[in-house]
Amino acid sequence: MAPQIMKGLKDVYFETSESSFIDGQVGKLLYRGYDIHDLAEKSTFEEVVYLLLYGDMPTASQLKEFDDTLRANRRIPDEVIQVLDLVKASHPMDALRTGISALAAFDPEINDNSPEATIRKGLRLTAMGPTIVGAHHRLRLGLEPVAPDPSLNHAGNFLYMLSGEKPDQETTDLLDVDFILHAEHSANASAFAARVAASTLSDLHSAIVTGVGVLKGPWHGGAAEEVMKMSLEIGQPENAAEYCRKLLDGGGRVMGFGHRVYKAEDPRARHLRARSKALGEKMGHPEWFQILQYLEEEAMVPYRSRGIFVNVDFFAGSIYYLLGIPDDLFISIFALGRIPGWTVQCVEQYGDNMLIRPLLEYTGKMDLEYVPIEKRT
Ligand code: CMC
Repeated sequence: MAPQIMKGLKDVYFETSESSFIDGQVGKLLYRGYDIHDLAEKSTFEEVVYLLLYGDMPTASQLKEFDDTLRANRRIPDEVIQVLDLVKASHPMDALRTGISALAAFDPEINDNSPEATIRKGLRLTAMGPTIVGAHHRLRLGLEPVAPDPSLNHAGNFLYMLSGEKPDQETTDLLDVDFILHAEHSANASAFAARVAASTLSDLHSAIVTGVGVLKGPWHGGAAEEVMKMSLEIGQPENAAEYCRKLLDGGGRVMGFGHRVYKAEDPRARHLRARSKALGEKMGHPEWFQILQYLEEEAMVPYRSRGIFVNVDFFAGSIYYLLGIPDDLFISIFALGRIPGWTVQCVEQYGDNMLIRPLLEYTGKMDLEYVPIEKRT
């Protein structure tokens, strides 16, 4: 009997996890039991990283100590800056992947997959990731990298290392929320891939490099960039209907819509929707939100009955764009937010490991006769 093929591993549970919970039918997301809405409104990225890595909310003194450690670990070795300079022509995600790979050469605990060492490495990579992206961005512009500033929080320091200017509180808070919303998301493709790497007992750096590579695809983390490209092509709200009709009639997909697990609205979208609207109005550019609003409230309404709603990436691109962040950096921001999520899933994988090794049903030819090359026609 032919085996049942679970294409795309859709609806397949392959492990248990205590890290995040998703109820796709009602659009609910919890990190370690805490509702994403509470975390987005009341928490900080640093606190969420602590929660994910250690499993519980920190006390004030634990958070202070943790944040101090994060701030103290932001610098990357000069050799890694040199590597980034060599690959400065590459996409920022390729540079991030390369930078994390290079950091493996300098991490004293590279081959220690114990939970304690993996958490420490995840903390270091969380702290250093923005420095890689910031340095690469400056180098490709022909500028000197900006050293991290320990007086700034994680989000503020990242923005500072990109532009060399200290961001205002509102911009910092926007990015902080964005990092929170991207921090962890159960068995998404990149976390699964990171777990596959960890299941071979490869090291955390390899697993995170794997995650970055998988996240890069436009059906996963690349959608925010694609949504903004689409908005720019649409240009004006009144062009949106025609644009969408042509795209969908041609069998295309509207980026930022749809999700393998959510068949209701992605709960993360709510926080970025409100912020995209407010930021556009504040900056005198309400048109980007109006285009997105039209797509959501008009063009894609018929798709709701098929469980296709906006996802986290739909409004993110417009926020980054309005903040003046170049479009090829959008996905790197997603990746920087996701490093703690990949880490905690690797800790879980190492903790109760079984090699992830599914099967493929062979549908090719069988038992062919080997013909020597001189006799082949
Ligand atoms: N626009 C139009 N149609 C869509 C869309 C979309 N964005 N998404 C899914 N569909 C249709 C799809 O064409 C298919 O139709 P049919 O049954 O007629 O062939 C049906 O819905 C089911 O699609 P699927 O590809 O089988 O569903 P999936 O669960 O494998 O897809 C997805 C999930 C995210 C790949 C898909 O919704 C998509 O391509 N969305 C656009 C890219 C995007 O926004 N990605 C970001 C995901 S959220 C960030 C993250 O966590 O990674």
